[in-house]
Amino acid sequence: MKVSLLRIFILPFVILVLGAGPALAQEEGAIKYRKAVMKAVGGHMGAMAGIVKGKVKGSQKEMEALSHAMRELASITPLIFPEGSDFGETRALEVIWQKPKEFKKVLDAFLAEATKLAEISHSGDKQAFGAQFKAMGKNACGACHKNFRGKKKNSLAQLRSTYSIGGTCFGRPGVG
Ligand code: HEC
Repeated sequence: MKVSLLRIFILPFVILVLGAGPALAQEEGAIKYRKAVMKAVGGHMGAMAGIVKGKVKGSQKEMEALSHAMRELASITPLIFPEGSDFGETRALEVIWQKPKEFKKVLDAFLAEATKLAEISHSGDKQAFGAQFKAMGKNACGACHKNFRGKKKNSLAQLRSTYSIGGTCFGRPGVG
């Protein structure tokens, strides 16, 4: 009797807990990685903005290096959204995985716009570079963030919305 109870009630629970640990750790890693890549994207954008706005002189070599690096980052952006990485401290919206075709459009736009920018950089023409920089900001960064990135939430609110079902927080009724 005792053995079968153990089998029926406890073993599945143990398996669930042991199984969920590594899976959650993996998702957390994927989210941290995505944010780090996006920070790099933001860093390159910020550096180029300095050149485009004339805050720094910005040689052709710098425009080339920054825009080519951005193109490289755009080429790996499709890989930073693995299935299941919408769970946890992330602003990535579920719609990314629910509407893969629409999401692919903005991924493709990012690579296309960044490729154009990298090509223009070789001309050393700052005005053309600035115009393409703006187009990329609107059609890639802006378009994706508008539809696929959620609003900033504090981490407590995020945790509550992740764990709560019908207003009740798992383990702590009434908190959610
Ligand atoms: C294909 C969609 C997509 C494109 C294109 C895109 N982003 Fe993002 N970006 C996201 C998503 C989704 C997040 C939220 C990531 C998360 O919280 O897990 C994000 C987050 C960020 C962050 C915050 C990172 C952090 O520290 O949490 C910055 C900065 C950023 N993006 C800048 C840019 C810039 C600049 C561009 C254009 C050059 C760009 N992004 C293009 C989807 C995109």
